[in-house]
Amino acid sequence: MTGIVRRQTLTLAVLLSTLPGLALAAGNASRAQDKAAACAACHGADGNSPTADYPRIAGQHQDYLLRALLDYKSGKRKNPIMQSQVENLAKQDLADLAAYFAGQASPLFSKR
Ligand code: HEC
Repeated sequence: MTGIVRRQTLTLAVLLSTLPGLALAAGNASRAQDKAAACAACHGADGNSPTADYPRIAGQHQDYLLRALLDYKSGKRKNPIMQSQVENLAKQDLADLAAYFAGQASPLFSKR
């Protein structure tokens, strides 16, 4: 009886641990540096936008950034400027960019 329960728990743990990998390979910040150059004009090289016209994306949660980028790409979040930025990028590129900007220091999150 306990053996069955233990086996089911193990199966569940294995299933759960593979789920994120199925959805999208983890973002890799070092792969994003070239692509991030295209974002610098508006968001700053490190995601700390030089003007209030553009949101500061440095230090923002990685999953939040990825969600925003995927939503611009799918059209769920509508913004012509950002849609044109992401339309030619693959989902893996977006994951890499999210990892890159999430890893940048921001005065908004200075306690981290
Ligand atoms: C021409 C200027 C411009 C460029 C270049 C640009 N962005 Fe943006 N970005 C914006 C604007 C404007 C917004 C706000 C859009 C809105 O209101 O949804 C924005 C919003 C975002 C957001 C959502 C922020 C939030 O707080 O919800 C993310 C993430 C983002 N940009 C990432 C990027 C990345 C990554 C690149 C490079 C591939 C990039 N942007 C290039 C202008 C730009």
